[in-house]
Amino acid sequence: MCGIVGYVGPRSSVEVLLGGLRRLEYRGYDSAGVSLISNDGRLETRKRAGKLDRLVEAIAEHPLDVAHIGIGHTRWATHGAPTDGNAHPHLGGAEQKLSLIHNGIIENFSELKAELLAAGTRFASETDSEVAAHLVAAEYQKSGDLIAAFRSVVNRLHGAFTILVIHQDQPDLVLAARRNAPLVVGLGDGENFLGSDVAAFVEHTKRAISVGQDEIVILRADGVTIEDFAGNPSPHEEFTVDWDASAASKGGWPSFMAKEIADQPQSVGDTLMGRLDSTGAVVLDELAPISDVVANADRIIFVACGTAAYAAEVGKYAFEKWARIVVSVELSHEFRYRDPILTPNTLVVAVSQSGETMDTLMATRYAKEAGCQVLAICNTQGATLARESDAVLYTHAGPEVAVASTKAFTAQIAAMHLLALHMAGIRKALPEAAANQIGRELLKLPAKVTEVLASAGSMAELGKSFGDAKSVLFLGRNVGYPIALEGALKLKEIAYIHAEGFAAGELKHGPIALVEQGQPVIVIVPSPADSDSLHPKVISNIQEIRARGAKVIAIAEVGDGLVSQFAEHVFYVPQIQPMLASILNVIPLQIFAMALANAKGLDVDQPRNLAKSVTVE
Ligand code: G6P
Repeated sequence: MCGIVGYVGPRSSVEVLLGGLRRLEYRGYDSAGVSLISNDGRLETRKRAGKLDRLVEAIAEHPLDVAHIGIGHTRWATHGAPTDGNAHPHLGGAEQKLSLIHNGIIENFSELKAELLAAGTRFASETDSEVAAHLVAAEYQKSGDLIAAFRSVVNRLHGAFTILVIHQDQPDLVLAARRNAPLVVGLGDGENFLGSDVAAFVEHTKRAISVGQDEIVILRADGVTIEDFAGNPSPHEEFTVDWDASAASKGGWPSFMAKEIADQPQSVGDTLMGRLDSTGAVVLDELAPISDVVANADRIIFVACGTAAYAAEVGKYAFEKWARIVVSVELSHEFRYRDPILTPNTLVVAVSQSGETMDTLMATRYAKEAGCQVLAICNTQGATLARESDAVLYTHAGPEVAVASTKAFTAQIAAMHLLALHMAGIRKALPEAAANQIGRELLKLPAKVTEVLASAGSMAELGKSFGDAKSVLFLGRNVGYPIALEGALKLKEIAYIHAEGFAAGELKHGPIALVEQGQPVIVIVPSPADSDSLHPKVISNIQEIRARGAKVIAIAEVGDGLVSQFAEHVFYVPQIQPMLASILNVIPLQIFAMALANAKGLDVDQPRNLAKSVTVE
């Protein structure tokens, strides 16, 4: 969590920093702050508890001088409450000439703090981060070498950190260090940037370098040097960010979530683009580095958290049905503590929008140490997960800013369908003609997503009308089950109401006891054309809950003549191959949750207590 941005160059640093923080605010919004070194050589800091707008107001009240270097931070609180005092930056040394921002947790901060207190250091906050600020200031005072002081301190820190430092005596220099927390460099012309991810600077430059584990960045306007923690040079290759800068702005939509839901025809289309030829055959060149395990795998384990884990659950059905391979989906934080059984023929697939979720990174490292090859399904170029995996299948959803995931989810499902079809081909589990037929159906998805969005107004109206609901249940079977889970998660995340997703078949084994008069239940109804004849079973489930007073909202396929007899409301989605319906079925649930949260007057982009990218375990 926490967003970090740094800048040195000819532009007004406060504008660059605030723009970067705006794009990183999804990482945490408990407080925000900036420090810069003004052109007349003074270190100036402004920080405020609350969202970034509070900081903007503080700067408007007490304007900052012109400056061309600075650091900025948006916080998701770990150590210390979200107050002005605990907001970053933190100043170091008695003269307060050094400013530091930190993302992560310094695990040995208590012993370091005790050492500083014994030496008479006075602390202004309750954070672990302030310790690092005082340590670097003290080392610098001794040696007069800021880079050496910084290096010696980061070597003493345990835990996870990205740390940025500026010092009034070195007004052309930003220092950064990274261990277990993300950091990317943006390369400009006579200017350079630092960010937690490329969204921080993509409006200024698309040239970027992903900083590795235990590395230090020495950033000046005219150059960037990267070293390891011992001070040895560390070579890096630059990459070009393929995100469009405008994609990270609201573009006239009332919220990022609204925009990102509407982006889905494009994000699904971009994820499929170039990966299916005109016959419908899948082409995934990016799997070349792991072609052996893709061909010989006897098992796939997905590791993921949150929405990404539900995307993997959707994928599981496709992998088993099409590729006939054993699949399990593991929550990343459970996976490595279970002593899982892994063999060289286990393909581990880590799914993560951000590529920075610490639990998923740790699961990936665990799998690699156990000798497995890891494929990442990731949305963010330069992310740690992408760097550390053996191959990457990027989803091309573009920047997702709203905390609750929408377009990344459907893009992840699209990517999984591609991968499942690819493996089905390699394993000869599906006849080529059947696989290509599904491939051609996949190509129809963007247009069908557009159709769903075009008729989604009724779902929004429905969401609004449920503003007073205390609880909403979601039911689905087969591939509709993880969609029920995701629908419930959306509602919990942004509308703060109790919501549960259940496998419809499980209903009679307990959940039906929750159903009383007026209980809203959203049911994902499978296609009547589904050869597994799940449709009549779900219709029976609807009748069972209706008999007990449930208010049923059904998501059903166009042409389903039966469902309207049993449900209060039916939202129809276009017909498609049943396995692919999950992408169409989830969109009305996203819209329902957003409309309900809006009706409650909640901020759908920045729900309480959450951060988009959970970079601590
Ligand atoms: C957080 C977010 C969720 C997200 C999950 C996994 O919990 O609030 O929306 O699904 O992290 O994130 P990832 O970036 O790994 O997909």
